[in-house]
Parts: sequence; C-alpha cells; structure tokens
Amino acid sequence: AAEKKTLQPMAPSTLTALAEEKTLQASFVRDEDERPKVAYNNFSNDVPVISVAGIDDEEKRSEICKKIVNACEDWGIFQIVDHGVDTSLITEMSRLAKEFFALPPEDKLRFDMSGGKKGGFIVSSHLQDWREIVTYFSYPVQNRDYSRWPDKPEGWKTVTQTYSEKLMELACKLLQVLSEAMDLDKDALTKACVDMDQKVVVNFYPKCPQPDLTLGLKRHTDPGTITLLLQDQVGGLQATRDDGKTWITVQPIEGAFVVNLGDHGHYLSNGRFKNADHQAVVNSSYSRLSIATFQNPAPDATVYPLKVREGEKPILAESITFAEMYKRKMSRDIELAKLKKLAK
Ligand code: SIN
Ligand code: FE2
Repeated sequence: AAEKKTLQPMAPSTLTALAEEKTLQASFVRDEDERPKVAYNNFSNDVPVISVAGIDDEEKRSEICKKIVNACEDWGIFQIVDHGVDTSLITEMSRLAKEFFALPPEDKLRFDMSGGKKGGFIVSSHLQDWREIVTYFSYPVQNRDYSRWPDKPEGWKTVTQTYSEKLMELACKLLQVLSEAMDLDKDALTKACVDMDQKVVVNFYPKCPQPDLTLGLKRHTDPGTITLLLQDQVGGLQATRDDGKTWITVQPIEGAFVVNLGDHGHYLSNGRFKNADHQAVVNSSYSRLSIATFQNPAPDATVYPLKVREGEKPILAESITFAEMYKRKMSRDIELAKLKKLAK
C-alpha cells in the first residue's frame, strides 16, 4: 500500500487570501507551549517609559542615563518619548508603509526577496510567522540597493531614507548614554560596531482567523546592538523577563520608540544589560504595523565584553566576530527545534 504522507502546505507568497479564511492554515499552527498566553490588548505599563528630552544637555543627561541603565538591567526593553524625531516624519513613514501592504499581491511581489535577494518583500522568513515584511538595508550607505526599495507608494523611498538617517542619529545618542553607563568613552559602543549597520524591517500583521494558535513573530532576542521599534496603537508586542513564565503586552504609545537591547549589546556589557526576550502576537479584529530599525555592528566587528567589572568573569569564553555570533545563534535555534521535534 502507498505510504500515507502528511502534506505540508506551501509557504504562501502573501497573506492576503489566507486572512479571509475562517480557519488558520495548518503551517501557521504553533506547538502549544509557544502559543500566546496573554491577549494582544491586555496592556501593561511595566516596561519603563523614559523621556529623553535634554539628552544632549550635561545636567539632564545623568538623570536620563540612570533611568535607561535601570531599564536595561531589569528588562533590556524600554520606551522613549520626547526623542526629537519629527511626528510628521513618523506619521508619513507609517502611512506609506500601510499603503504598501494594501497594494495588490502582484505589486508587492515585484520586490519578492525569496531566493536570497538582499532586501524587499516576503512573508516572514520564519515560515510559521503570521506576518508580511519589507526590508531595507540602509547603512553602511554602500549597502543601499535602491532597486530593492519599493517605488510604490510614491514618496516612500525618500521618506524611508530620511527616517533611516534620523534613527541612526538617535541610536548613536542612546549608544553614547549606554557607553557612559559602562564607565567608558562616549564613543565606545559605536566604535565597537566598527562601521555601524542599519536594517529597517517593516512588519505587517494582517487580521488573523485564529490568533490563539499562532504568533506574528515567534519569541526571540534581537542579535544586534539596539533596535528602535515604532508600533501603531493596536498592540501585540510582548516581553518576558522570567524566561517565558509571564508575558506582558507593551502599552502602545503614539510616536514613542520601543528600544530593545540585542545580543551584541548584552555581550558588550558583560551581561549587565539584558537582551530583551520578546515576541509579537496577532488578533482577529485589526491588522497591525510595526517598523523595526536594527542597529547592528559590522559583520567582522568583535563581540567581547568591553568592560568586566571587579569580581566578575567575562561571559564569553573567547572573542568572536558578529558574523560568527550570528551563525552560532542560528545553528543553536535549529538544534533546539530538532530536539523539540524528537521529544514529541
Ligand atoms: C520585532 O521584534 O522585530 C518586531 C516586534 C513587533 O512587531 O512588535
Ligand atoms: Fe525583535
């Protein structure tokens, strides 16, 4: 008799049609232990909200620095307001991004990046994530391949470019504060990144037929130094600081940036600053937009604690490049997934 095979549905090229279905396509159904535990709109104010007004001013700076340090030691995630990025720029960036995802599938697929293209549109690279993304490589400047930057809706390219520049400036200021907090030269963290990379990922999470069974983006820590995330008012970003025992949904604040410390930042601080453990959940009532700006070190930058405090040991056995750190992270993830499958 012919062997029965379980058919794995193909990864869809866009989520447009699937979002209209009554049930979730099987390929998005996650193991029970990975599914959301807290609702997308059950907001918490536990993650600190910090005004960075006066961050350039010596007097105000130390007060701001203390708050940021506490947040990094506690969570590795916090929100900033009064950051100086124009509201009109933020509004334009979000509006144009939403318009892009509302385009017919064929328009989005003109920028399809499956098959290894650098930048463009794709239904999440993690096959089970209920999200569509569009990605730009924005720094170093020579990495900008404008042919991979969507040219629709009109004006988005220009707005994205300005947005990237403003966020690079803001990120550098935050890295200065973190360097000072580590008792180092202001420029220590940017220098450790060598030639700082920036990648923008615009996430679109359509309404989902069965949001309890899936995630928009599975639990992870960001690999880089810091991430600046802009989210709309729907909600869905969740964080945990006790290894997934409890989750909180970050309260969306109009115009604020959520700042995440990534693995690189965590290692440079010798573990003093947490790498934020987070995920994104979806819902059946609203689609959601978020824009993540990843500030990463250059691939050949060295990953090793910049300062080891007295009585502490370095949390890394050897210094490695960022590219190697990333490779090990990915293979660890694959190993863990295999082990999990075996244990079933
Ligand atoms: C991310 O972790 O990159 C995105 C999270 C979100 O969409 O809230
Ligand atoms: Fe993330």
